[in-house]
Amino acid sequence: MTTPPNLPALLADERQRFLDQHPRSLALAQAAQQHFLFGVPLHWMRDWPTPATLFVREARGVTLTCADDLNHADFCLGDTGAMFGHSPAPLAQALAEQAARGLTCMLPAEHTPEVGTLLAETFGLPMWQMALTASDANRFVLRWARAITQRPQLLVFDGCYHGAVDDTLVDRDPINGATLRRPSVLGQVHNHHAFTRVVPFNDLAALEAALSDGQVACLLAEPALTNCGLVPPAPGFWEAAQALCQRFGTLLVMDETHTLSTARGGYAKAHGLAPDFFVAGKAVAGGLPCALYGFTAEVTERMRVAKDAAPEGHSGIGTTLAGNALTLAALRAALTHLHTEASYGHMLDLAGRLEQGLNHHIATHGLPWTVTRLGARMELQFMPHTPRDARDVVDHAQPELESFTHLFMLNRGVLLTPFHSMMLLSPSTQVADVDRLLAAFDALCVTLSPGQ
Ligand SMILES: Cc1ncc(COP(=O)(O)O)c(C=O)c1O
Repeated sequence: MTTPPNLPALLADERQRFLDQHPRSLALAQAAQQHFLFGVPLHWMRDWPTPATLFVREARGVTLTCADDLNHADFCLGDTGAMFGHSPAPLAQALAEQAARGLTCMLPAEHTPEVGTLLAETFGLPMWQMALTASDANRFVLRWARAITQRPQLLVFDGCYHGAVDDTLVDRDPINGATLRRPSVLGQVHNHHAFTRVVPFNDLAALEAALSDGQVACLLAEPALTNCGLVPPAPGFWEAAQALCQRFGTLLVMDETHTLSTARGGYAKAHGLAPDFFVAGKAVAGGLPCALYGFTAEVTERMRVAKDAAPEGHSGIGTTLAGNALTLAALRAALTHLHTEASYGHMLDLAGRLEQGLNHHIATHGLPWTVTRLGARMELQFMPHTPRDARDVVDHAQPELESFTHLFMLNRGVLLTPFHSMMLLSPSTQVADVDRLLAAFDALCVTLSPGQ
């Protein structure tokens, strides 16, 4: 039992403390209600545990200054979009220069070949296409995968999130393993779940069974689940899963949108895996709306054949602003100045310090919690072991404790993600930021320790 009986009262105190500290955010929240649904430009921005929306004055490096002029050490970093820090200087400069020279022409900018070379060197795949969001990139890859394999089915892991992609917004029935439409998804009308199979993560037998009829175009997966709680792959899982995909002619698509945190170039490259497609978005161009997908030479040939065989007309792949000049300028700056060994060296060093400090406080206070880390990102999990799959996470979920943790830390100047207490380190994060987080976390442990 890790939830103290007085948690509702503690949570009420923290909610009041937030309101006392943020009168201007509260006023802005009320004013924005007039013309924005739920008072925010994207309704997810209301899905934070704060009693009123936190409005931002500015964000630089890892300092987020709210409308009430309070500085927060940002470990949420826009849920990974700002993994390289807010407004990194080389990016701001590249944007300012390009902004005066054309934003979008539906023609490639002059520096396109140079960006291609940088992509191939950074991520290790030879060929590339651009999109504006990771959701779009995944959607386009699914279309290509079905087109080139002429197979209808998609395979994903239970607990996955690959963006607003209908085919992937499914759950696995824990009783019979059937694919279920995710009940929270609004306005679903199509039987997308008829073309999507779902298996538990880290389950090779289930994976083999799902692939064995040769109907699966691709396995779309994050190298570690990061969206239902951080679930790392078991040792040897990916080597075996990749071999199964090859055996059954299923393309392996690695969505590295979040696992870019692992190391320079992402998880697959760092672990010697060879996916057929690689997808990234969010932080890839430093937080500008930019996503991309890379693919092997063999896949390229199959894409050419599929495109040549199709009649003239819409391919259903691409959007008008994809690959625009502004985004490409940002991507060039990000690949040159942000995706560097120096950036990752700094991030991983600090992540080690943070992980050690969190574990120290957890042990000192005798709390049955776990820290699970993937490179520069980690999560505080209110369970005694590293989760094995999405079910394990669900079985140990403590939403009230998560909300309390988020608010408690925010009220002490430390911003975590609004869900499953994720902490991300950036090249701008300093030791002092980590120590600030650890001091607040120690206070949290004291508050929640048995016997308090
Ligand atoms: C692994 C993964 N892929 C894709 C996406 C979708 O990204 P976006 O919302 O930028 O389209 C997300 C978003 O959280 C994600 O975590």
